[in-house]
Amino acid sequence: MRTPIVAGNWKMNLAVDEAVSLARGIAEGAPENGVKLIVSPVSVHLSAVSEALAASPVLLGAQNMHWATSGAYTGEVAGPMLRELAVRYVILGHSERRQHFGESDEGVNRKVHSALAQDFHPIICLGETLDEREAGNTETKVECQLRAAMSGLSAEQAQQTIVAYEPIWAIGTGKTASPQQAQEVHAFLRDVLRDRFDDNTANEIPILYGGSVKPRNFDALIAQKDIDGGLVGGASLKAESFLELARIGRSA
Ligand code: PGA
Repeated sequence: MRTPIVAGNWKMNLAVDEAVSLARGIAEGAPENGVKLIVSPVSVHLSAVSEALAASPVLLGAQNMHWATSGAYTGEVAGPMLRELAVRYVILGHSERRQHFGESDEGVNRKVHSALAQDFHPIICLGETLDEREAGNTETKVECQLRAAMSGLSAEQAQQTIVAYEPIWAIGTGKTASPQQAQEVHAFLRDVLRDRFDDNTANEIPILYGGSVKPRNFDALIAQKDIDGGLVGGASLKAESFLELARIGRSA
């Protein structure tokens, strides 16, 4: 059985005091129901949020990480810096980074290798645009992204990753993929993992759904066989809705 995961992606939001109080609210209200909770603040807030979460079961993620461990990369953040702040997860290849910052499949793959070498769990994001879905190209797109992100990984390494299927048309739009639409893609991704690695690896890797996850639609999503949790933007910015998702995560 895969552990359910609810991962918050706070994106470029909140002032530091707001981030700290959100983290405290989540830590205080976190249900002890076996759902793994991860929050990912903007990098300049990681230090303060890390302190706020110390001694709580809530885990810390970063929204990006450079593949180099140090050097002349103005504006970037390296793994060892994240490590010092008790970061365990890194979101890689989010569609906003691909779209606005030119992140390529190859770059994502380099970051995945670097993250694994430094003992992080990469949360590898992929998903199709509305045009791609309407043209019938969803599977081709996500298979391509998944294979590229995992290029060169051993099965053992792949088992340390988390995949997040996030249809771009559903992110921040209030339009969620239906549970059936999401399940179809998740089952397909698991088949790709089975083909690329083996049965055990495909069954081990959590596949999260992302794109307008809310307390009102999460129970039907998480009830699907291959949906192991959510990567959540908007609804992760309030302790109340994030904790509601955490509670729903177990009841499915
Ligand atoms: P959303 O964002 O929940 O606000 O749609 C999801 C994401 O981008 O991870």
